[in-house]
Amino acid sequence: MTLTFKFSKNPPKSVDALIAICDSSKKLPETLKTLDKELKGYITDSLKNSDAFEGKAKQSLILSLPKNALAKNLVLIGIGEHKKLTTLAADNIGGKLYMALDGLKIKSAALFSDAKSALDGDMLAAHLAHGMELRSYKFDKYRPKKDDDKTPKNITINVITDLATQAKKQFDHLHSVSSGVFLARDLVNEVPNVLYPESYAEIIKTELTPLGVKVEILDAKKMEKMGMGAIMAVGQGSIRPPCMVIMSWNGSGQKMNKPLGFVGKGVTFDTGGISLKPGEGMDEMKLDMGGSAAVVGLIKSLALQNAKKDVVGIVGLAENMPSHNAYRPGDVIKSYSGKHVEVLNTDAEGRLVLADCLTYIQEKYDPAFVIDLATLTGAIIVALASEFSGVFVNDDKLWDGLNEAGTRTGEKVWRMPLDEFYRKNVESDIGDVRNLAKNGRAGGACTAAAFIEAFIDEGRPWSHIDIAGTAMYGGSYGKSEFDLGPKGATGVGVRLLEEFVSKWK
Ligand code: BES
Ligand code: MN
Ligand code: ZN
Repeated sequence: MTLTFKFSKNPPKSVDALIAICDSSKKLPETLKTLDKELKGYITDSLKNSDAFEGKAKQSLILSLPKNALAKNLVLIGIGEHKKLTTLAADNIGGKLYMALDGLKIKSAALFSDAKSALDGDMLAAHLAHGMELRSYKFDKYRPKKDDDKTPKNITINVITDLATQAKKQFDHLHSVSSGVFLARDLVNEVPNVLYPESYAEIIKTELTPLGVKVEILDAKKMEKMGMGAIMAVGQGSIRPPCMVIMSWNGSGQKMNKPLGFVGKGVTFDTGGISLKPGEGMDEMKLDMGGSAAVVGLIKSLALQNAKKDVVGIVGLAENMPSHNAYRPGDVIKSYSGKHVEVLNTDAEGRLVLADCLTYIQEKYDPAFVIDLATLTGAIIVALASEFSGVFVNDDKLWDGLNEAGTRTGEKVWRMPLDEFYRKNVESDIGDVRNLAKNGRAGGACTAAAFIEAFIDEGRPWSHIDIAGTAMYGGSYGKSEFDLGPKGATGVGVRLLEEFVSKWK
């Protein structure tokens, strides 16, 4: 089902449903007052008589309207104290508004927003719509007939606000963000027999090229020749060869100079390889390209909004399989950086994929900073559950930007340590670095970050974001509660980084 949003000062002549937010002072939104007058105060009276409904968050009230009204029902959704609204709170309320409509067989609705709140009226209307849109996502391509034929495919939401033009403008920006989020979710939810390195690379090309993004694919042959031994080792056990995809968005219009750099782990399926994972829950390892999906989604958002910045995104795509050709514990491989990596566990594959991507992006683009995203360790889930993504960062300005973006978008981040202790633990006796720390699984997210740090140039602002816990909702690892999306991929990283890039100077 797709939602189409229209913004106007007055509601259309007739719609299937009316929804309005109502705060704990039980004052009606300004935009609803005309209708209330037309109905001779019917709404105000009903609201007064409904003692149980106090306008608190999680409360709702359905009023049936008189025959002459523009719709049969009005759904009032409590939002608590209006003064305290943030854009994130408005997003979340939007999610609830969508849930109040979901399942009703309606084709249109009018949503009454309010110009008088702690949030500017245009922001409130736009973020309510944004939250509705984010929550409306579904991944149902493999059961298209589950909804019966009476369920409309399209719903028009008329957002009623005094600041319609401004709200529409805000929403257009937010819609570019949701489009990126939806792409990231689609990619993560896609099944691993359909999404594998080469098919994934083709999807990226098809999605982004028409938007003006330059998409370049380094296939296995090229990577082999260039000496990208780390990503090649991870992919060598699979019949589906690995590849690297480089997406560049030249928003400045000038020659690319110190672009913003993003790298994503794109392990399309992680069996663990020869260090095979246990069978139970292994199906969830299709999420192991979540970092790359966030980067692809981010680039899509930035291109759609015609962002005036230069951005390069690189994703390393590989399938980690056990086979006669797979890499082994004990192997020593030469990475693209020239550093030798001692492999002690083939399930610690993500850091190898990232290593070659990070060397390449720094060498080729000299980015102002580089941020990598990866579903890298189970240990980050032990540390932070699914509430925060773990951020390792060597630069306070980067951290401040990420932290603020996390607070604003609700994609929360927590700063984790980079330290000599962890670096020591990934030193190898036979090569330069080892992919399994000497101290085993203790502090596993931190030793993984220390490994990646070994591939970052001296003085390069860098952050590694471990999203193993936050990439999915509802699985055995994922978030347990999520207002802005259904069970499955969250698309985490897109909203965080879009907000971060928008504010970056
Ligand atoms: N893809 C996994 C990490 C993961 C775990 C993601 C759970 C999402 C949910 C990663 O490749 C992995 O297997 N990491 C190992 C590293 C260990 C062998 C050092 C882990 O976390 O156990
Ligand atoms: Mn693994
Ligand atoms: Zn993995």
